[in-house]
Amino acid sequence: MNILLLGNGGRESALAWKMKQSNKLDTLFVAPGNAGTHEVAKNIDLSATDFPAIKHFVLSNGIGMVVVGPEEPLVRGVYDFFVNDSELKNIPVIGPSKEGAQLEGSKDFAKQFMMRHNIPTARYKSFTIDELDEAYQFLGELSAPYVLKADGLAAGKGVLIINNIEEAKRELKEMLSGMFGAASKTVVIEEFLSGIECSVFVLTDGDSYKILPVAKDYKRIGEGDTGLNTGGMGAVSPVSFADDTFMKKVEERIVMPTIEGLKKDNIVYKGFIFLGLIEVEGEPMVIEYNVRMGDPETEVVMLRIKSDLVSLLEGVATGTLRDRSLEIDDRYAVTVMLVSGGYPGDYEKDKEITGLESVSGSILFHAGTKLNGGKVLTSGGRVIAVSSYGKTKDEALSVSFENAEKVLFDKKYYRKDIGFDLK
Ligand code: AMP
Ligand code: GLY
Repeated sequence: MNILLLGNGGRESALAWKMKQSNKLDTLFVAPGNAGTHEVAKNIDLSATDFPAIKHFVLSNGIGMVVVGPEEPLVRGVYDFFVNDSELKNIPVIGPSKEGAQLEGSKDFAKQFMMRHNIPTARYKSFTIDELDEAYQFLGELSAPYVLKADGLAAGKGVLIINNIEEAKRELKEMLSGMFGAASKTVVIEEFLSGIECSVFVLTDGDSYKILPVAKDYKRIGEGDTGLNTGGMGAVSPVSFADDTFMKKVEERIVMPTIEGLKKDNIVYKGFIFLGLIEVEGEPMVIEYNVRMGDPETEVVMLRIKSDLVSLLEGVATGTLRDRSLEIDDRYAVTVMLVSGGYPGDYEKDKEITGLESVSGSILFHAGTKLNGGKVLTSGGRVIAVSSYGKTKDEALSVSFENAEKVLFDKKYYRKDIGFDLK
């Protein structure tokens, strides 16, 4: 089968690496891809949201399945675009329908879904600018810190956590007046939850499901989880506190009601569900849903899946996921993200990356890279995810840190304390 993968980050590099190992695969195309996906697949110069161009490419290259990496094409309805097109309708898209993608595209939608299906999450209320007085009143009922969330997609920047109520009121008004454009016309205000977070990934064909390896990512730029939020500076799997007891609660209280809830609500969902969870006194609660795999979590999750990913995705497409096996590698997998100096603020691009060939014992998943002539250049904030296995977390990390030193580019930075808060 020929497969088209949409996206261009570290997540897509890891998905491409894993799919490439399948003997069910003929040719893998990635649109638009990066210098890393170029090593295992054919990059196609197409935007992941240009649906008419994707249609043309799919039909002229005998594509048998489309796998969607990032949320944007899903929220814009790529699944529905295929299903509603007479020429495309038999070509499966791995990802939720536009309605299902609202679990990530609208925090208010996700909250209502969780309330309807009794899924544990923080207490909340949603407001628009016409309800400012009610919103201030609700803030007064909560205690600090105050969590304000733009309803819509805001490139990972739409959540503010504020200690002072007067400042929370000011920021709330700014948000409702368009701080994040249309994304913050509605704001979800919710209770602050205190605990440790992890990411649980579920693959579903809309009926049955498989729970993939659990991972923890490190979002802050600075060591000790300090400084600004980033797309993710590293990840570890498995996660020590997410033991069998915790995961049983996750499955019974969150995964099963989510799958059942989608069915009851007649929401078509055939793809990955990302549960952003927090452990509060031993109990799992949902911080957020995403409708895709996490990045950089995918760079460790793919390392730990022993089974054929293409076969699992075929199971999703044909409603036979139940019959496919999911085998997990017992080893630890970690990833350390090399980023451009200055990220997540301003940073320079087009820096030459050298030393790639001297890396041994790690897998390099490219995130923000591009090819220029024979050279590999930086093209984003997050550049390369140095991913390794180990019998222990520390063993895996020492391999990644050693190789992180060998990959060279001007102003390279990485966190040397990934996994610091786990056993
Ligand atoms: P989200 O985009 O919803 O994942 O929020 C971004 C980050 O904000 C999360 O990963 C959490 O670290 C934090 N966060 C979001 N909601 C809450 C909450 N109710 N309580 C505590 N932290 C939160
Ligand atoms: N690593 C978090 C995310 O992909 O949203």
